[in-house]
Amino acid sequence: MWFSASTLAVFSLTRNTTTMQLTNPCRRTMPFFVGVAVLVLAAAAARADGALCDKSDKAALLAIKSALGNHPDLSGWNSTAPCCAWPGISCSATTGRVTELTVFALNISAPVPAAIANLTALQSVNLAYNRLYGRIPEFLGPRALPDITFLRLDGNRLDGPIPPTATVHDLSVVGNRLTGPLPAAFAGAEFGSVDVADNQLTGDASVLFGARKRVNSLRLSRNRFAFDLGRVELPGKLDILAVDHNMIYGAIPAAAATRKWLAFDVSYNNLCGPIPQGRYTHRFGPRHFAPNKCLCGRPLAPCS
Ligand SMILES: *[C@@H]1O[C@H](CO)[C@@H](O)[C@H](O)[C@H]1NC(C)=O
Ligand SMILES: *[C@@H]1O[C@H](CO)[C@@H](O)[C@H](O)[C@H]1NC(C)=O
Ligand SMILES: *[C@@H]1O[C@H](CO)[C@@H](O)[C@H](O)[C@H]1NC(C)=O
Repeated sequence: MWFSASTLAVFSLTRNTTTMQLTNPCRRTMPFFVGVAVLVLAAAAARADGALCDKSDKAALLAIKSALGNHPDLSGWNSTAPCCAWPGISCSATTGRVTELTVFALNISAPVPAAIANLTALQSVNLAYNRLYGRIPEFLGPRALPDITFLRLDGNRLDGPIPPTATVHDLSVVGNRLTGPLPAAFAGAEFGSVDVADNQLTGDASVLFGARKRVNSLRLSRNRFAFDLGRVELPGKLDILAVDHNMIYGAIPAAAATRKWLAFDVSYNNLCGPIPQGRYTHRFGPRHFAPNKCLCGRPLAPCS
């Protein structure tokens, strides 16, 4: 592909060369042509590189590499290949801006690199299964990175609260050391999936619920959330609800009976009252409902 494009460029330039020769007093036809051809080939190569790798994004990636301690698995981030061909990097084919950053399961111990904020065309960031520590920076969200829709920080050692700016369509921060309540700003966010399991989050997670929300997966398991589940409205498309191992109270919403659940787990909470009886709630055995304070009915013991 590249070769044929370059050949075409050289071919079309031979015509320009002819015109230039008319004004060229030296008339060194062959060397001049070869010289131009080489220049054109070099220019084409440079253009290809330029198109594939935005210069300031490349600088930001090198700063990220350095902030991640120049980990040996990032040695492919070097000048022999354009930055869009580096492992874990994808770019827009039209702008050469970096759209995906994946540094996955390299066991890297560092804070989240600040230079990520310079990759303003990012759509997807996956830094899962390292040993990243410190806070989740506020720039990991659509306010600083307008196109971001996917953020995955699972299996790190991040602490502190989830910042209010982390309103990314698919948010996954499983298995960190996050504390505090979910940001109130999440109430107005449009999520597709939220997975905050295995942290030390507290308070009211009902901000994620609401009849008009389009979220289809909520995983809040193994935190310290405490709110009245009976008062939430189930989002219309929700088919994965895992809220086990919290301190959630109230009843299971009656609307749960009519949903086509792919996953459903409310065990290890303080829920009470009859289990809404529906075809898909029945798919899940007692261990998805117990223990709780006083839930009753199938698949648990009948309500008295
Ligand atoms: C990031 O952007 C800031 C502000 O534009 C600039 O000063 C800094 O040099 C950039 N850093 C990198 C690594 O590109
Ligand atoms: C640079 O990256 C290429 C792969 O893109 C790799 O084959 C090469 O070993 C790297 N060079 C250094 C010096 O790490
Ligand atoms: C991860 O790195 C730590 C040191 O930072 C090391 O003790 C540990 O064995 C590593 N784990 C794996 C799976 O490589």
